[in-house]
Amino acid sequence: MERRRVAVVVGAHGVIGGKLVEHLKETGGWDIVGLSRRGGVDDGRVRHIAVDLLDTKDTYEKLASLHDVTHVFYAAYQDRPTWAELVPPNLAMLTNVVDALEAASDNLEHISLMQGYKVYGAHLGPFETPARESDPGHMPPEFNVDQQTFLETRSVGARWNWTAIRPSVVCGYRLGNPMNLATVIAVYASMSKELGVPLRFPGARGAYSSLLEMTDAGLLAEATVWAATTPECAGQAFNINNGDLFRWETMWPRIAAYFDLPVAAPLHMSLSDTMADKESLWNSMVDRYDLAPTAYADVAAWPFGDFVFGWDYDFFADGSKARRFGFHRYVETEKMFTDIFSDLRRRRVIP
Ligand SMILES: NC(=O)c1ccc[n+]([C@@H]2O[C@H](COP(=O)([O-])OP(=O)(O)OC[C@H]3O[C@@H](n4cnc5c(N)ncnc54)[C@H](OP(=O)(O)O)[C@@H]3O)[C@@H](O)[C@H]2O)c1
Repeated sequence: MERRRVAVVVGAHGVIGGKLVEHLKETGGWDIVGLSRRGGVDDGRVRHIAVDLLDTKDTYEKLASLHDVTHVFYAAYQDRPTWAELVPPNLAMLTNVVDALEAASDNLEHISLMQGYKVYGAHLGPFETPARESDPGHMPPEFNVDQQTFLETRSVGARWNWTAIRPSVVCGYRLGNPMNLATVIAVYASMSKELGVPLRFPGARGAYSSLLEMTDAGLLAEATVWAATTPECAGQAFNINNGDLFRWETMWPRIAAYFDLPVAAPLHMSLSDTMADKESLWNSMVDRYDLAPTAYADVAAWPFGDFVFGWDYDFFADGSKARRFGFHRYVETEKMFTDIFSDLRRRRVIP
């Protein structure tokens, strides 16, 4: 009989963690425990625990009964305004989870850490592309690096091993998350249409023509579980991306076409500022189109849009290491965007 694995998905309501829960459930053979502050409704093999991972005592108490955990998929995230401020809470949450689960379970085999291209300094400015997993480090602070160092150190002599997964911008369905580009675009386009204005790329001048790539949340979930369950991947980091590159100057008109909108020349603006006064417009759209009631704050990760659309430099990494180790899936990025937009329409989040 096949052995059941027990996964703890840390950050089960995230753009990334939410899809991981879904993927593990669909794959079968897993019991799944989702951790987040807000908790959730248990569903078959999926159990939710509401816990504040910044609170050491709460973490120990709530995780103490998880005696059979075999795999940890770490995708929790605490947002902070500066790169330095991101380090303490994000390192503390990971440390609390590892401390509590090492104490609770004798079966721990693997801890998967969700990182990103910040490891390569992609958030700081033009970085060497394509970025490779073996690239040299950069000046701290950077919480992804500190988290990996923590796992590397802690795994020496431990019964578990680790992998680190490095996606590009992750696109998937979730509401109320600080880093959610597909929703930013969908809501920006829907509001442009409502106001009768063409779809203008709001990013920096050079960002329109730079080369970049995305990571589909479903592809990412598959790759993350593959790496966590493939013995050769132990102790390795992997870039995971869709496998195609694009420029907004090509993608933007296609997105406009999906929304049946004319496209006009880019106009660099701060979405955080420009969209700040549009909550009443959003609320009126929710009424007029009979949308699922969604608070404006939950669909408007404008600062993240400003961040991504501000990259006036190439933004991509070499995804060949994962392929060399045996992961070959890819996703066509244009289709990924339109599939997510259609999903948002189906869920009545946008008209
Ligand atoms: N999104 C992207 O485009 C992207 C791209 C590359 C890399 N990454 C990296 O991937 C990781 C996950 O990002 P994400 O975008 O999926 O994050 P996210 O959508 O903000 O999700 C974060 C998760 O962590 C949980 N959480 C936050 N604070 C918590 C606490 N104190 N105790 C318990 N749970 C807590 C949240 O649930 P509650 O709010 O209910 O607690 C949520 O489930 C991050 O390291 C991020 O840098 C993200």
